[in-house]
Amino acid sequence: MSFTVAIDGPAAAGKGTISKAVAAHFGFAHLDTGLLYRATGRRVLAGEDPVAAARDLQPDDLQRDDLRTADVAQAASRVAAIVEVRSALVDFQISFARRAGGAVLDGRDIGTVICPDAEVKLFVTASDEVRAERRYLELSAKNADVTRAQVLADVRERDARDAARDAAPMVAAQDALVLDTSDLSIDAAVARAIAAVEAGSP
Ligand code: DC
Repeated sequence: MSFTVAIDGPAAAGKGTISKAVAAHFGFAHLDTGLLYRATGRRVLAGEDPVAAARDLQPDDLQRDDLRTADVAQAASRVAAIVEVRSALVDFQISFARRAGGAVLDGRDIGTVICPDAEVKLFVTASDEVRAERRYLELSAKNADVTRAQVLADVRERDARDAARDAAPMVAAQDALVLDTSDLSIDAAVARAIAAVEAGSP
C-alpha cells in the first residue's frame, strides 16, 4: 500500500532535515526532488540545453557532490521555471510517491501538483533571516566563500522566482499544515512533523 507525505516550502526552511527524519522514523523512502532540478541546472551550467538535460537525467547525475553550491541552486531555480523541464521530471516523482511502503517527497509543488492526493501535506517555512543564517552556516562549514548578505539576497531571489513562475509555483496547498520552524529546534520541528503524519495516518 502506498502512503505519501508531501513536504514543500522555501529554500533552507528545514524541509530536507525534516523529510529525512520523518522517512527514517516511519521506514518510508525519501526523495529530495530539488536534486532533480539541481542536477538539471548543473548540466545546463556545463553547456547543455535544459530540456534535453532534464529528459536525459541519469541516476549518476543525482549522486554528484557538487549539487549543493549557490550557483547550482540558482541554475536549478531557473530551469525549474521551464514547463518542459518540469514535465520531463513528473513521472519519476509520481511513481516514487506511489511506491509500496510509503514515501516522503520534499520540494516546492509536491502537495499541489505532483501528489495532490498525498495523505499528509506539510508546508515548512521560516523567516528569510533565519533561513539565510542556516544556509550561511551550512555553506561556510564547507569553506564556501560567501557573506551573510549574499546568502540572504540569494535565498530571496530564488524564493521570489520559485513563487512567481507560472509553472507549478511554490505555494502551500490549501490542505497543508504550515510548520514555521523560525523558533523551533530541529528536534521540535521533527516531532511536530511526525505528529502530523501520525494524525494523517489511515
Ligand atoms: O529544494 P532545493 O533548494 O534543492 O531546490 C532547488 C531549486 O529547484 C529550487 O529553487 C526550485 C526548484 N524546485 C522546484 O521547482 N520544484 C521542486 N519540487 C523542487 C525544487
